[in-house]
Amino acid sequence: MNTYEHHVQLNLAETCVDPFTLHEFLTLAREEDFFEKIAGKKLTYGFIEGSQDLRKRIAELYDDANPDNVLVTRGAIDANFLVFYSLVEAGDTVISVFPSYQQLYSIPKSFGANVKLLKLRKENQWLPDLKELGRLIDEKTKLIVINNPHNPTGSLIKTRLLKKICTIAEDSEAFLLCDESYRGLYVRPEDSTPSAADLSKKAIVTGSLSKSFSLAGLRLGWINANQEIRDDCMLHRDYTTISCNMITDALASLAFKHSSRILKRNLNIIRTNHRILSQWVDDEPLIEWIPPIAGSTAFLHYNLPIPSMDFCVHLIREQGVFLVPGTCFEMEKYLRISYGCKTKIVEEGLSRISTFLRQSPTGH
Ligand SMILES: Cc1ncc(COP(=O)(O)O)c(C=O)c1O
Repeated sequence: MNTYEHHVQLNLAETCVDPFTLHEFLTLAREEDFFEKIAGKKLTYGFIEGSQDLRKRIAELYDDANPDNVLVTRGAIDANFLVFYSLVEAGDTVISVFPSYQQLYSIPKSFGANVKLLKLRKENQWLPDLKELGRLIDEKTKLIVINNPHNPTGSLIKTRLLKKICTIAEDSEAFLLCDESYRGLYVRPEDSTPSAADLSKKAIVTGSLSKSFSLAGLRLGWINANQEIRDDCMLHRDYTTISCNMITDALASLAFKHSSRILKRNLNIIRTNHRILSQWVDDEPLIEWIPPIAGSTAFLHYNLPIPSMDFCVHLIREQGVFLVPGTCFEMEKYLRISYGCKTKIVEEGLSRISTFLRQSPTGH
């Protein structure tokens, strides 16, 4: 991402729903004078665990949370790291879904955990297989890590399956870490699914303003966990974060105040683009997929005799379109496409990918 994302013409690799400009966001919130209003504030560390107002608004995303369950972090990446840093010790077993966001299995490994991969398979709609999960659990299992909705496949663990995973975690006395960075982005409204935090006291969930709120630049995420875990994370956080940016804290409160309008905008983008992408896949003989149910990404299988890295590098050079090669997820012959960007970028990008696919594979 670092090498290409700022130079490509059409970025279909970025997973955030079309990011707001600061101006667009403040206009939507009717707070154009935001910076004038806060100009007299001293630039202190602010509230160490996040302001009470912000933590209250985050707690309201869940049925049964209060501000003391919430810790504000610098994005979900910081939230996930902090959970691993606080809980995982060398020799623990950590079970993590795969493919997934690499942090979710590499960080526990770096802390000396025995990481077992719970493979998601397309034959199973990219969902965890409970029998396999049962087989992976051992007496040292500290954490089961899932990501719901799932990056890169766009699969969604719906309520019944999620409850069963919670029960398996509870029975084995493991914690369940559920990265819910893409929560809220459901292609069909009826697929709306509860947070794992509302199904089990053993669940630790992480969330973010980056994806479904289109505010990655604020670098704001959170942990919602039971008091004991939350306090443990708070303690460990003193070594990594101190506090989040106090201006971000105030802007994040504004985002939650206007969350229904932001989500309406973003669901409109996701649903429109999902339709366009579905039609394109139907019409492309070399592409297959399991249609994504939620989130902002889809995992496309392509039928050409070239490695995914070569595919993506040639696609950038020849067509200016950026996709993530499956090899980044250790899965060859796959491409991750994100469909949260502006509709015209999706349309133009898909049209150029079609041109690329029609050229002779040996020509690339
Ligand atoms: C599953 C998942 N978790 C966490 C993150 C990190 O997001 P952020 O730190 O911007 O909240 C990402 C970003 O792509 C992600 O896909």
